[in-house]
Amino acid sequence: MAEQRSQWGSRLGFVLAAAGSAVGLGNIWKFPYITGENGGGLFVLIYLVCIALVGIPIMMAEIMIGRAAQKQPVVAFSTLQGKKTAWAGVGWLGIIAGFVILSYYIVVAGWAMDFTLKSVVNITEPIHDTAEVEGSVYRVTTSTADMETMLIQRQAEKDLKYPVRRIKNKAKPSVWDDYDRYETALDKSEVVDVVKREMLAEVWTSESADTLTALGQTDLPDPNVSEEARNAYRDARNRLFEDNAFAKNIDRAESLMREVEILRKKQLLAVRVLYGEKTELEIRDEAEAVHRRAVIFQKVDDTFGAVAVDGWTSAFWSAIFMLLVILIVAGGISSGIERTCRILMPTLIFLILVMVIYGAFKDGFGEALSFVFKPDPSKLKASGVLEALGHAFFTLSLGMGAMITYGSYQKSKTGIVGQSVMIAILDTAIALLACMMIFPIIFSYDQEAAAGPGLVFKSMPLAFAEIGKGGMLLAILFFGLLVFAAITSAISLLEVVASYFIDQLGWARRKAAWTLGGIILVFGLGSAFASDPDFVLSSWQPSYGTDFFTTIDYLASNWLLPMGGLFIALYVGWGMPKRLREAEMTDVAPALVAGWLLLVRFIAPALVIVVLLQKVGVLDADELFHAWFNRPD
Ligand code: TRP
Repeated sequence: MAEQRSQWGSRLGFVLAAAGSAVGLGNIWKFPYITGENGGGLFVLIYLVCIALVGIPIMMAEIMIGRAAQKQPVVAFSTLQGKKTAWAGVGWLGIIAGFVILSYYIVVAGWAMDFTLKSVVNITEPIHDTAEVEGSVYRVTTSTADMETMLIQRQAEKDLKYPVRRIKNKAKPSVWDDYDRYETALDKSEVVDVVKREMLAEVWTSESADTLTALGQTDLPDPNVSEEARNAYRDARNRLFEDNAFAKNIDRAESLMREVEILRKKQLLAVRVLYGEKTELEIRDEAEAVHRRAVIFQKVDDTFGAVAVDGWTSAFWSAIFMLLVILIVAGGISSGIERTCRILMPTLIFLILVMVIYGAFKDGFGEALSFVFKPDPSKLKASGVLEALGHAFFTLSLGMGAMITYGSYQKSKTGIVGQSVMIAILDTAIALLACMMIFPIIFSYDQEAAAGPGLVFKSMPLAFAEIGKGGMLLAILFFGLLVFAAITSAISLLEVVASYFIDQLGWARRKAAWTLGGIILVFGLGSAFASDPDFVLSSWQPSYGTDFFTTIDYLASNWLLPMGGLFIALYVGWGMPKRLREAEMTDVAPALVAGWLLLVRFIAPALVIVVLLQKVGVLDADELFHAWFNRPD
């Protein structure tokens, strides 16, 4: 035990390692897709505010605890308090969180490795070639009229996405919940919704049969239903409408649906005029391209789906990845972790810049810029604000003692503000650069920004397949950098868990790394096989409504991290001896210290509690703050 505790080789080494922990799948995989789902600009802005008001102060708190105690999280609290203390529970929470996060982190990182190899063997090029062939077949077998109809519908749907959302946002979410319930109830009792049919007929009645065909509106339901069906409908409606509030909500929803349909018709007609001006050749070319893209999408989607449901492949890559992580952690603080980060971090930044520069020359770059940086309140929901705060924790590696652990390998008593700000800036810059590398490609190849978790594993390969020859190189770069980012984060997760056994139980570093890494890998098999239909854990899905993987990700990022962050803020704000706190901030201006105290004592805890209340369902932000987010225009 008397053996000298390991230290970072230099200050820069510490900052790079901490930034390496922060920059990970959270930045490149998660941030772009949640930005996409939350409509871009405003979400990004709020995320930046969360980083500044909650992220940086808690980062300082964690580094402070580690530096002052020179111990990993569980041991740190009792060291600082000079006795056994309940605060040590926060450290345990962190070990559990690290264990859980790492167990699925290696699975996603493993997919990135698999895709890097797939890129090296160039799987996208054959997909590109087959799609070419299928595109030409489509071209010779389809009439221009059919093509035009398809294109009109497609364009109109795209144009309508946000306007329709704006209309629907005029009513609170609970109105739409009631409407869903209403429709399901009718459906279940096999009653036709007469009001809806009549509305559709009325909106469309002025159009000729030719127009309807051209717009693809040929399957409008017949409003002339039998007397019997009409009575059944009236009865059902009366029965459901006994509750006055419910009836009012359905009325409201129905009148909004009418607005939507009128808008839809207008848009379809407008788009038709647009296509009327195009030549036959233009239409055929465009339709062929759309079809080809759909084929590519299908094939890429199959490829990804095949990896996710193949438990053995996922497990294999997770194991390889874990092996690398164990080797680095076993190598020690400065010769393992620090050295790796010193090499990988600059490489990562360089690779991202190459990709961003490539994106800057694509048509979609302008659209991407305005998507990421132009705030548009109509695209964000109140719950998106809370998601931004939750993500601030994940992306900065906060709330589980990773920064306590990394901070504890540093003896210096100065520079805490500068270091925290630097780490946060690096992390944020890379998250934003990741958006600027992904969205230009997504928009240039007409992909959906809100594609969800598959954004990186489906939409990007799709774009690479479209690019054809050069796509292979970009794909290797892209997935390679994803792997690098994941490695420097995963080592911090393992370090938190392993350091307990090193600091408290006096294990040798090698033994701790190999043992804990091995155990976490075994636990991670649950995530690797989560979507494999041949595996027992798939029974998890029916009983919990989602798969094992998603369940533990949700648990860790939505519960463990915010809770850990809350306690850490409360500890440095209220529990930590003043003398120790001040010793860490001798170089900080008094006004800054006061501001920071205000943040960790009140603001950050309050915000985190709001997030947690939303998670438990005590508070429904979308319902409560509906009026703020949807001011009438
Ligand atoms: N911050 C990393 C990312 O963005 C993930 C991570 C590493 C992490 N260590 C952590 C998250 C500790 C929370 C706590 O991918």
